[in-house]
Amino acid sequence: MRAYDIIKTKRDGGVLTDAEISYFINGYTKGDIPDYQAAAWLMAVYERGMTSAETAALTRAMANSGDSIDLSGIRGPKADKHSTGGVGDKTTLITAPIVAACGVKVAKMSGRGLGHTGGTTDKLLSIPGMRVDFDRDEFVSIVNRYGICVTGSTADLAPADKKLYALRDVTATVDSIPLIAASIMSKKIASGSKNLVLDVKVGSGAFMKNEKAAGRLANEMVNIGTSAGLKVTALLTNMNSPLGYAIGNSLEVIEAVNTLKGTGPEDLTELCLTLAAHMLHLAGKGDIGECEEAARNALYSGLAYERFCWMVNAQGGDVGVIMDTSLFKKAKYYRTLTAQVSGYVSGINAELCGRAAVLLGAGRSKKEDDIDMAAGVMIETKPGAFIKSGDVVATMYSEHEELFDGANSELASAFSISPDEVAPSRLIIREISNAD
Ligand code: URA
Repeated sequence: MRAYDIIKTKRDGGVLTDAEISYFINGYTKGDIPDYQAAAWLMAVYERGMTSAETAALTRAMANSGDSIDLSGIRGPKADKHSTGGVGDKTTLITAPIVAACGVKVAKMSGRGLGHTGGTTDKLLSIPGMRVDFDRDEFVSIVNRYGICVTGSTADLAPADKKLYALRDVTATVDSIPLIAASIMSKKIASGSKNLVLDVKVGSGAFMKNEKAAGRLANEMVNIGTSAGLKVTALLTNMNSPLGYAIGNSLEVIEAVNTLKGTGPEDLTELCLTLAAHMLHLAGKGDIGECEEAARNALYSGLAYERFCWMVNAQGGDVGVIMDTSLFKKAKYYRTLTAQVSGYVSGINAELCGRAAVLLGAGRSKKEDDIDMAAGVMIETKPGAFIKSGDVVATMYSEHEELFDGANSELASAFSISPDEVAPSRLIIREISNAD
């Protein structure tokens, strides 16, 4: 077999065999196939797509490209979640402790930010001392002891995804259904998930811009889960505007802590409770109504907040900054953005807000960039609200004053104001599941 022929078959719209896909993925992981051929292949897949059988073969090849993690040492029911990537998406920080407080273990492997979307490990690392680099034994032992651990994935877990993910990020091939489906599901299969809730984001801030594409992605992932023996529920959720108000690492941790204390934004709270209820349901904790009630009780009793503090402590983080979030390091500078006209907020484009946060230093433009943990954006309004000319609609934070101009122009174009009232859009759009 030759990489050249495999690229050409896909370029011309052909269907690849399991053997060809596995040859290509193994060759790329080992370094026998160079980046330039992998980049050409990714673009061919991006343009031509893949059949479900090809996507399943790609997922298997990626899942088998490194070690699998045996989580059988974790006692009791377990559940996992994954988001396809959004702006202001801090749901893991809230959902995982809710689920753990209800007696279902959460052994979660999370990733770094990708493009304009944030990553959970970056957010966690804004807590002083926090570690996200546990090996399997430490990971299992923390989960057994505290019911929860959120770590980065190890170097040996689905290494094909690590290489391809970085290459996709710089070759404009991220937003492809088969590539996202295989990327997410290969990691979930290799990391031993059995009960998985997928938050499939739809809208301007998501990789899938419309419901039809998001539905296809969700179906693809649920089908892959079925053939790998995983129970999977995918929720299509709205990512047209940022989730909550905070975008940026420590800003998002602070908002997550407020949410865990019961005073978070409504949209974020509702989504976290729904995700948690579905995780509990897949783990066998009752029907969905019972699980919703359990999740609500865990949140409003303070047990989920307490669980988050345990997790931070177990992962080496400073619980003092969680108990008093004013102790988080602050950005040196801030600048506000004000409305130019009065009217109803008809849209807050999440992708532009995410890009503004990256420009302020909250994300990476190149994969080796350092992150400014205190940088980001606080949105001060929500779609549907009435605002007056001169009202502050967002505040930007950064360590470097010269970054404000670039971020300001992205952010200013994110806001649409209309003279007419705007109907609220649905947060949870629909559900696709292979469980009952
Ligand atoms: N999240 C992933 O893990 N992979 C993708 O390709 C996109 C989002």
